[in-house]
Amino acid sequence: MFWRTSSSASSPDPAPAGTADKRAVVSLVDVRKTYGSGGGGQVAALDGVSVSFRAGTFTAIMGPSGSGKSTLLQCAAGLDRVDAGEVLLDGAPLHRLSERALTELRRERMGFVFQSFNLVPALTARQNVELPLRLAGRGIDAAAVDRGLAEVGLAERGGHRPSELSGGQQQRVAIARALATRPKVLFADEPTGALDSRTARDVLALLRRLVADHGQTVIMVTHDPVAASHAERVVFLADGRVTGELTDPTAESVALRMAALEPDDPGTDSRPGTDARLGADARLGADARLGADARLGADAC
Ligand SMILES: Nc1ncnc2c1ncn2[C@@H]1O[C@H](COP(=O)(O)OP(=O)(O)OP(=O)(O)O)[C@@H](O)[C@H]1O
Ligand SMILES: [Mg+2]
Repeated sequence: MFWRTSSSASSPDPAPAGTADKRAVVSLVDVRKTYGSGGGGQVAALDGVSVSFRAGTFTAIMGPSGSGKSTLLQCAAGLDRVDAGEVLLDGAPLHRLSERALTELRRERMGFVFQSFNLVPALTARQNVELPLRLAGRGIDAAAVDRGLAEVGLAERGGHRPSELSGGQQQRVAIARALATRPKVLFADEPTGALDSRTARDVLALLRRLVADHGQTVIMVTHDPVAASHAERVVFLADGRVTGELTDPTAESVALRMAALEPDDPGTDSRPGTDARLGADARLGADARLGADARLGADAC
């Protein structure tokens, strides 16, 4: 089994503002992140974000395009540095770690799943799952890799290359790969964004099962209220700030909240440099192209 079981603590009482929740596995405290240098080109992607995630819980992050969702996820996962504030993983201050220590921590304790799967095309499903273990210099436990593939329903597909798998199957390989190092936290940025609704449901059911059966902590960015309703909690962002949250969300309650956050005319977005999707995808694409390189291969896969 890839996954360890950890205790599930989902009571909603938040920590006082400005302090980290002691029971959280991931905490952001007053995090700020600005892109661009000087003048009017600056974008406050995160503008004083404080939010915590407890072990064994499934949280969705929602908000309009450009609201800072991907930035939040990448700062929480140590893929991006914050300008101010604290990011704590199990109490370890990511914002104070050296690049090297951060890389090691990411390899050991975090898994990342992207909308575009980011599998290495030349490798089989099994080799993709083994990749983070190899890059981390760990031995390969073939039986554990088998169990990991079986857990995502792909026991028979280990020998297939990504091009021989459907989108949903590729995303499930990506999830198995992200879990290969038994991370404390699985981060997923729009993991169902490229999937049809039925396939998306399968992937969401898998994420739920990881939480329910294995105590995995999952933090997922999504645009889709139906996807968000699979989580037990939804945190809403707008303009780089947390604007509220819902527990036990339904697709309807999430859609209502989102309607209040979306700009009236979705065609106009006043934030500077709001090619958010392009910006985020370009960065993720760059990560993907690095492929077997440390950044994606070991740290973000
Ligand atoms: N590398 C970057 N350089 C400059 N600006 C950036 C960069 N990354 C993000 N931004 C800006 O920061 C803001 C937040 O971007 P982010 O990608 O976090 O948004 P998002 O909520 O994930 O959007 P989407 O739903 O479209 O993916 C946006 O205005 C975006 O243009
Ligand atoms: Mg994004």
